[in-house]
Parts: sequence; C-alpha cells; structure tokens
Amino acid sequence: MCGIVGYIGHRDASPVLLEGLHRLEYRGYDSAGIAVPHRGRPRVHKAAVRVAELRDRLQTPMPGRIGIAHTRWATHGEATDVNAHPHLDASGRIAVVHNGIIENAEALREQLTGRGVTLVSDTDTEAIAHLIAAALDEGANSSLEDAVRSALGAVDGTYGLVVLDARRPEELVVARNGSPIVLGIGDGEMFIASDLAALVRYTQRVVYLDDGELATVRAGAFQTSSLQANTLQADRAAKTPTTVSLEAEDYELGEFADFMRKEIYEQPEAVRRALRGRLDDRFATTHLGGLNMDARQLREIRRVKFLGCGSAYYAGQIGANLVEELARIPADAEPASEFRYRNPVIDSDTLYVAISQSGETADTLAAVQELQRKGGQVIGVVNAVGSAIARECGRGIFLHAGPEVSVASTKAVTTMSLSFALLGALLGRVRDLSTANGKRLVAGLRALPERIEQILALEEEIAAAAREYAHASHMFFIGRVRGWPVAREGAQKLKEISYIHAEAYQAAELKHGPLALIDETMPSVVIVPDDELFTKNIGTIEQIRARGGPIIAITNAELPADLADTVIRIPGNEPELDPILLGIPLQLFAYHLALKLGRDIDKPRNLAKSVTVE
Ligand code: G6P
Repeated sequence: MCGIVGYIGHRDASPVLLEGLHRLEYRGYDSAGIAVPHRGRPRVHKAAVRVAELRDRLQTPMPGRIGIAHTRWATHGEATDVNAHPHLDASGRIAVVHNGIIENAEALREQLTGRGVTLVSDTDTEAIAHLIAAALDEGANSSLEDAVRSALGAVDGTYGLVVLDARRPEELVVARNGSPIVLGIGDGEMFIASDLAALVRYTQRVVYLDDGELATVRAGAFQTSSLQANTLQADRAAKTPTTVSLEAEDYELGEFADFMRKEIYEQPEAVRRALRGRLDDRFATTHLGGLNMDARQLREIRRVKFLGCGSAYYAGQIGANLVEELARIPADAEPASEFRYRNPVIDSDTLYVAISQSGETADTLAAVQELQRKGGQVIGVVNAVGSAIARECGRGIFLHAGPEVSVASTKAVTTMSLSFALLGALLGRVRDLSTANGKRLVAGLRALPERIEQILALEEEIAAAAREYAHASHMFFIGRVRGWPVAREGAQKLKEISYIHAEAYQAAELKHGPLALIDETMPSVVIVPDDELFTKNIGTIEQIRARGGPIIAITNAELPADLADTVIRIPGNEPELDPILLGIPLQLFAYHLALKLGRDIDKPRNLAKSVTVE
C-alpha cells in the first residue's frame, strides 16, 4: 500500500525523505510527493511519476529540516498529479500524507464544500487537511495534536497519517488506525514511516504506533496519546522503543538486478534461519516456542483453519494438507478476505492460523479481530516482527525470512509452507505420527536448504523453458492433492508479474469442463510429485496431450520419455514436503517469462506489496 515518510532533525529533510520513498516504493508506486515547509508554507512537489523521476525533477534544493513524503497506490481518485500526496488545506498551511481509506469521505467533502471550501483533488485525504485547518482555526490556541484528534473524530475509516503544520516547523503529528506507522528514534532526530524499510539505514530503535494512537514527534522527543481522549484526558506518554535487527543491506539489491530474483536466491538461508532451534532429533519432533502451547493444549485442538490472502492463502492450503496428513486433524484454508463477511462459526477447539508476510494485510487483520472478538484461539504466522497481526495474535510462528521487497512473494511463501510442516509435525507427534515418521520428516526438513540450492542451480534450464512459452496468452497450472496448492501459487506468480492469464485447476476436474480449452495454444504446467498419485498425474498429462496441449512438467520423479514437451526435474525429498520444493521452479519460471516479456518485475502493474486497505 502507500508508503509514508516523515523526518524532523538536524539533516536536510528532502534527501532523507526521497531515500525513504525509494525504499518504500514497493508498497505503491503510481505517484509520489514531498512537502518541506518554507516561510510558513509547505513547498510541495508531487506528480504521477515514480520516485526516481520525482527526484530528477527536484532540481532546486528544498532546504528545511522537517518534511513529509508519500508514494501512492491509488484508492480514491485516479493516479494523477493533483491526487498525489501530500494534500494541503485551503490556506496552504497544513500538509497531510495518508495511507488507508476514509469511508465517509464523500460526506466530509460535501460538508466542506457546503462551508465554502474548494477541494482541488478527488481524494479522501484532502478532506483531512481541511478538517485539521478548521479545527486549528476554531481553537486558536490549540495544539496541532488536539486539532488532528478533533478532525479525526469526524473521520470513519482507516489511516496511517502524518501531518505537518508549516507554521510550527518544530513538530509533526502522526496517527494510526488500521494502517501501519512506525517511529524511528535517532540522536536528536526522528524518522516516521509506514514501514521499517525506510528507517533502518538511520536507526534500529523504533516505536510502533498502535491502532487508535496519536503521537507528536519533535526532533528530540515524542509523546503518544489516545485518539479517543479529549484534551484533558489525553494520557500523554512516551512508549519504550524496541530494537530491530534489520540493517540497511537487507533492503539493498547487491549483485542482483531485482528483488524478486534476490529473494528467490535467499531461500536456502531463509529456510536455514527458520529451522534454527526448531528441530528436535531426540524426540523426532519440532519446537515452536512462540505458540506457547504445551502438549495437552496441542492435543485439545480438534480442527485447524488457515486464513490468509493471495499467496499466503495458497500457502495456507499447503498447510492444511500438511496438518491433515501429518497430524490427522481436519484442516482447511480460507481466504481471510471472505472470512469475516460470512459471520463465521467460531469453534473453541479450532486452532485458527492467520498467515501474512507483512503482518499488515487489512483483510487478514480483520479476520483476526473477528476471531478475537468471538473468543477463537488464533496464532499468527508472520514475517514482519512487530507488525499489527503479530501483535494482535500475541503468539505464533515467525517466518524469519528477512525483509521481502518484491511484490511477488517467494521466500515468505516458502517459509510459510515450511512453518506448516513444522506445525504439522509437532501436532502429529503429540498424536499418532510415529517416531520413525517423525525422524524421517526431521531429516527431510533439515535437507531442504541444500535441495533448494540444487533447484536454484537449474535456473538456466528453467529460464530456457520459460522463454519458450513467452508467446502464450493463457496457461493452465494443474495439480492434484499435494500439487494443487502448488499449482495455484504457480499460477498466481505468473499472472502477477507476467500478466499472462494463468488458471490453476485440480487435475481430476480438468475433464469436467476446462478440457474444452485445450489445444496447441494452451500450455499446461503440470505438477507431478513422486508420490502415490504419480500414475494418476501421468493419466492427466495423457489427456492433455491427446488434445494437442503443450506440457511443461514440474516433477521430482522420473517421467516416461517424450511424455512432456518440457520437463523440469528437481531433487526429491520426503513426499509430504514436496510442495515446499515444487513451488521453487515455478517462481523461476514466472520470473524468466516476465523478464522475457520485459515486465517491471518488482513493481507489477496495479499491485502493491502489502494491502492495508479493504
Ligand atoms: C498482496 C500481495 C500478494 C500477497 C498478499 C498477502 O495482495 O500483492 O503478493 O500474497 O497481499 O500479503 P501478506 O503480507 O498478508 O502475506
């Protein structure tokens, strides 16, 4: 979603802001803007361009040691210069950058128009700037914080926002309700961002704002208070900063041309990190301390439900298969975006698993809140430590994948599936999974990083195969049972970054309709694990071939000669863990196909890395 940066301190603000925007661009990139005050008015530069272009256009220096900036993913109003943030009030004193959606924006805009205010943009954000200015006018001596609090009292919706009053260039006010805001504490300087990526090159000491919180930030100090409180009640306090272990290099490309390929290559290390301290050879099981559940509590779980969006949902499907298979507990996955809208039945014996790389996805967070409200037990499987979902759940499994910047998720998805294998083994070993099977799985898990390295060594072969299919307009991704969610995630990767229409189908469903689409122009990527369903999958390939459809087989088995047009053969492992490995060649396949088509791999059109609005 949109990226927000703010700075106040002893440096020139604009280079810090532009650098921060550059780091946050993966969150949204249809327009960008910056405001730095000068003689009581904010000087604003904004346009429907990428951050690099904005930087190029800023030829004249913008002196000033305080400022705010924004990179946008349009929700209200098209991506135009005028709709880009920051937005100003009519007097040009207040500048606001905002992430989120104001639900009563139309009503607020009408009220403002009724009062004679002229709105210049189509955005929901502009209304906030006018409301703050009006609150300041009404209470002549009120603080900016009070004016922001009072303005936000009229606002329904979600926001992470930063407000600058050009007449008070010694402070910024920030507020959070549903969209992330983090403060970076420097030495006599403060940084504000929607994401750690913009901060970690300057400081590792951070404070996460909670929903319903507001903060006044000055160069040497900050104070938080509640959005709800009135001026007298506001319990102003300074939260204690936490130290994050991320470094600026975690967000650098290094030798890679883009983040997606870099992150694909980080997978062996990410998996090693995610396994550290979690394998138990003595009892042939796994340790997941973050669950905070003893053996008795683990045994009391009667069902497991996985909830996530996009790739996290497909990973959840892999998780459901793993838990059913290893622990023999009924499990399923559901898109978190649907969950709360169907008034779900919450069962106290069910373990709900909220999955999210960013930990900020609004739909997933809302599902967690619905669960909490109804007394469901929910754990988070999250990459971003300190994120809203991680904090809301309070317990779970951290992915330890390291920062993921590419919009198309790779190492996070792999470590999600890995976490579910760890969870499945743990739940299985307190039930009927035998010691022998436990040992086999622990050995298989330990072998994963090396196997992933072997798959990455096949990159050139996979790239050549991908390039051959770059002319296709549509593709099927076919899988059965263990291979089905792998096919879904493979199709998702391809459509996200190549814009080729890719549809995933269960192998056996193909003959119930979609087979009608097969001809020589419709390639099918078929997932063929080396498991008990191998011959069934060969049968599916035969059905497609008989209709002239080109076949790309992704397998860890030996296929009959000439069965498929292209075979990508990867190393095997324990069959239950196949989905983790079979997904990796599909990442490279999508990547090289998109590369061949000249796509902007890290910034696919219309998408954003973390979707913090509904
Ligand atoms: C967005 C991204 C997807 C991602 C999904 C869930 O839609 O474009 O790639 O899978 O959000 O993100 P999360 O951070 O919750 O895993």
